[in-house]
Amino acid sequence: MTSAILTPAAPATSSPTIAFRPPSVADGGDLWRIASDARTLDVNSSYAYLLWARDYARTSILAEVDGQPAGFVTGYTRPSAPQTLMVWQVAVDDGHRGRGIALRMLHELVDQVDDAATMETTITDDNTASIALFTRFAQQRGTIITREDLFGAEHFPEEHAPERLYRIRPLR
Ligand SMILES: CC(C)(COP(=O)(O)OP(=O)(O)OC[C@H]1O[C@@H](n2cnc3c(N)ncnc32)[C@H](O)[C@@H]1OP(=O)(O)O)[C@@H](O)C(=O)NCCC(=O)NCCS
Repeated sequence: MTSAILTPAAPATSSPTIAFRPPSVADGGDLWRIASDARTLDVNSSYAYLLWARDYARTSILAEVDGQPAGFVTGYTRPSAPQTLMVWQVAVDDGHRGRGIALRMLHELVDQVDDAATMETTITDDNTASIALFTRFAQQRGTIITREDLFGAEHFPEEHAPERLYRIRPLR
């Protein structure tokens, strides 16, 4: 008589599939939901995100984890400086943070907007995650990031911390 030693089967592991694409109007509601859940962003109306997904899809990007919207970047090229990609908002759902998704979105966006030479964004001094993100992005591209004042507290009609302008260039 033979005896078999039974060992538990190893649990099946699969890493999530992360994909990037420009948003469509059908994604506008998800952009608004992700921005609202982030809680640190100035959330705009759902209408604004629908409009953005319609008119600024080329300069925006959506990240999907296993087919579900998990993060986005909204941006535009400045009318007076079309080679400048202004990043308006970046957000990643809480459960997917710390995996490099925001960094990858920025790189994918720069690939998408292949004529952009400069990236700009504004950040308040208390947003250490955002400052770390853009600093790391510039470092990974081997380029320079600078900071200057843009919108002071006195420019805002309500109480609002100053927004500093961060400029990253050359992008490539
Ligand atoms: C900022 C935010 C988009 C980062 O998303 P993320 O996918 O977790 O970021 P990544 O994993 O790509 O990290 C990118 C870099 O930023 C750093 N970073 C991210 N979150 C950080 C935090 N809370 N504190 C310090 N550094 C942080 C990472 O360490 C990483 O640098 P490293 O490669 O040197 O480690 C996310 O925290 C978020 O959605 N925050 C709320 C919305 C917001 O404030 N957006 C920015 C203003 S528009």
